[in-house]
Amino acid sequence: MNANKTIVIINGSPKINEPSASEAFADIAARHFEAKGHKALRIHAGKSLRQKHTAEDFETMRQSDALVFIFPLYVFCLPGLLIRYLQDYAQYLKEHPGTKAQKVYALVNCGFPEPGINDEAVRVIESFSRAIGGSFGFGIMFGEGGMIVGALHAPFMKKVLGALGGQFDQMAEDCSDDAAHPRPTVALRPSVGSRLYLFMGNMGWKQGIRKAGLKRRQLYATPYME
Ligand SMILES: Cc1cc2nc3c(=O)[nH]c(=O)nc-3n(C[C@H](O)[C@H](O)[C@H](O)COP(=O)(O)O)c2cc1C
Repeated sequence: MNANKTIVIINGSPKINEPSASEAFADIAARHFEAKGHKALRIHAGKSLRQKHTAEDFETMRQSDALVFIFPLYVFCLPGLLIRYLQDYAQYLKEHPGTKAQKVYALVNCGFPEPGINDEAVRVIESFSRAIGGSFGFGIMFGEGGMIVGALHAPFMKKVLGALGGQFDQMAEDCSDDAAHPRPTVALRPSVGSRLYLFMGNMGWKQGIRKAGLKRRQLYATPYME
């Protein structure tokens, strides 16, 4: 048993120069992994591709003990850039045989309140893990993910953040030894009612349309039907 493992957190959000839920989740994960004595390294898949930094980043991933993919649900699946990143990493491993079996974990966050809709995306990471000869630990499905950016310090977030921290601690403990510890994927969401969440979401649309200098009724425009 060796507590000091290297865990690479890969942010798969296409957002690069704006706040993203995945980045906020990655910050929390890194804090928990380091508190358990591991080294937490960070990679942003979008930046890695755009800055043509993939060879260095894939080598960092290849040398690590565990990979944690944190990304948003896009049309009930993975963002396209992350799919490409996974394919390119799998190809890199083929070209660099002899990589030790890595532990793989996922956190998928979505805009809708129901965390369960992230299940298929978690299973894509599980299948990817099998394809690279890794060992999939478990996934975290997080509903209303945007709240982690907009309401991180709100009192109603305390409970879900506590549960999330517990899951990251579990990942850290799983990584501490080389044996596989597969666990069921967990579902989390903030304890704010769906109605309040939808109300807050609608506020966001209304503020956005005002900022764009347009009228609220233009949110309901159907230009392709006219
Ligand atoms: C192109 C696109 C597709 C999306 N598809 C879904 C979806 O199918 N289901 C869902 O609940 N949220 C969907 N969302 C919302 C995001 O998953 C959500 O806003 C998430 O918190 C963004 O995370 P990020 O800030 O890490 O990018 C979508 C957002 C975008 C921009």
